[in-house]
Amino acid sequence: MKKKPVLINVVSGKGGTGKSLLVAILGRILAQEGSSILLVDLDPFVRGLTHFFYLYKKERRRITDKQTIADFFGLTRGESKSMEFARERFFEVDLIPAVSKIEEHLEYMDTTGSSKERTKELFTSLRDMKYDFVIIDNRAGIDDMIIRCCELSDLSLSVSEADPVARSTNDNLLRHLRDSNTAKVYTIMNKVRYVKTLRDYRESMEEIRADYDIVGKIPFDVDLFESFGKPEFWNEANSTRYAYGISEAWNKLAHREEIPTVIDLKRFPESRIWPVKSSTFASRIDRMLIATGALFITAYFIVDRIMIRGGIHWLDLLLIYAVGLLFVPFIRSFVMGSDKEFSERKNSR
Ligand SMILES: Nc1ncnc2c1ncn2[C@@H]1O[C@H](COP(=O)(O)OP(=O)(O)OP(=O)(O)O)[C@@H](O)[C@H]1O
Ligand SMILES: [Mg+2]
Repeated sequence: MKKKPVLINVVSGKGGTGKSLLVAILGRILAQEGSSILLVDLDPFVRGLTHFFYLYKKERRRITDKQTIADFFGLTRGESKSMEFARERFFEVDLIPAVSKIEEHLEYMDTTGSSKERTKELFTSLRDMKYDFVIIDNRAGIDDMIIRCCELSDLSLSVSEADPVARSTNDNLLRHLRDSNTAKVYTIMNKVRYVKTLRDYRESMEEIRADYDIVGKIPFDVDLFESFGKPEFWNEANSTRYAYGISEAWNKLAHREEIPTVIDLKRFPESRIWPVKSSTFASRIDRMLIATGALFITAYFIVDRIMIRGGIHWLDLLLIYAVGLLFVPFIRSFVMGSDKEFSERKNSR
């Protein structure tokens, strides 16, 4: 008999931290590594996860004819009694969508009273489904229903950002969850800036060593951000720095929770996911010309001022300084690689 699924609830203290994207990409990577995955869009008003599915699906008019989360909570046509849910195939994973049409207008959602009971019924039903992991994309913020979902899940993942506002809203959420019956809550810091190389990433991960609750830091990935919503997005998203950050965080979480499923990090070759952006302004030939010019000036200076005239005047320091400046772009491009190398590496992703 198949084991019951692990229920993972994804929350955040404030909106827009990256929950839906994390749910989608983590779900896909775990499925590619051999797990069976169900994603649940429990955010019927924003419906970010369902939006991803909507963009992926060829047939645009209707997302599903079966019961959605909005139907289940009575936000469309009165409370439903059915425990059968739509399960749409989204790449390698199944998804219970939030709504049946992306533009569907919903009734105001009362998060107290009967919806708390419904939440319990939903989670009981999810627990009986035959998956390894059920990952729930919850709403941002704090309310009764979100806390209830955390209590009913095996573990919760709070997605925060590194800025003071996101950190403080995350702390608020964690305080509320600590006062509840929530089992375990881990934080993932998303959109971490100034992480361009593997070294930057490692240094940033060092900072969380002592913090038991933070399981990972995911770099702000400008390439991912720029291709968000475009057709090529989903082909590239699984092999980005972003996906690598999620995978490493998952492995840490799995280690702490004694979950045997780990993601093989060899799927992220270093040279492909850590392109070093060059900030050079000239081509390789231009840089050679600059360097040769600087070398000739230096040679002239050494022969004329030191060997022939036999001494350096204080004004000569200006010349030394200017020659030094000429070398800077050359040295920088030598250390960081050329634009062409960067774009080649980027194109190979
Ligand atoms: N690490 C990252 N690097 C770059 N962009 C990111 C990263 N993580 C998320 N984003 C971008 O942030 C935006 C918000 O993401 P997403 O919709 O997943 O957030 P959310 O927390 O689900 O929002 P909401 O609270 O509205 O449901 C998207 O444009 C997404 O591409
Ligand atoms: Mg969302």
